[in-house]
Amino acid sequence: MKYYFGSDHAGLELKKALIEHLKQKGLKTEDLGTHSQDSCDYPDYAIAVAEKVAKENALGILVCGTGIGICMSANKVDGIRAATIHNEFTGQMAKEHNNANIICLGGRVVDEQTAKKAVDGWLEAKFGEGRHTGRVKKIMDIEKH
Ligand code: RB5
Repeated sequence: MKYYFGSDHAGLELKKALIEHLKQKGLKTEDLGTHSQDSCDYPDYAIAVAEKVAKENALGILVCGTGIGICMSANKVDGIRAATIHNEFTGQMAKEHNNANIICLGGRVVDEQTAKKAVDGWLEAKFGEGRHTGRVKKIMDIEKH
């Protein structure tokens, strides 16, 4: 499984820390940018990651200032279930209940340790299936309208 990363300038430092965190676990990562502190537009990186995740059935981690705008953008791409997470519990739930294939964090919202725990919650959780399968299917069916 490959983990695609993207951020804007506000999420750059946290993204770099999270990439290292995943690499230390032996996971395969690719950073699709941004690569500098220059001000940029978060939708550009959200779309780049979301399209890779959808096409390759991969997973993604996006970081902007709040984790909001980059999540809204990613969810516009068919096949994406992006969730903004803030802590270990929301990370776990994003996988167990929502089967999120992209998680989003706010570099101006969570500190690095909290962010790593949130990501670990998502990485280590399993989709709960059962009643959640039908609910997630209803989300995905919205794309057919
Ligand atoms: C950039 O200033 C900021 O708007 C962006 O990182 C993000 O928080 C948007 O949702």
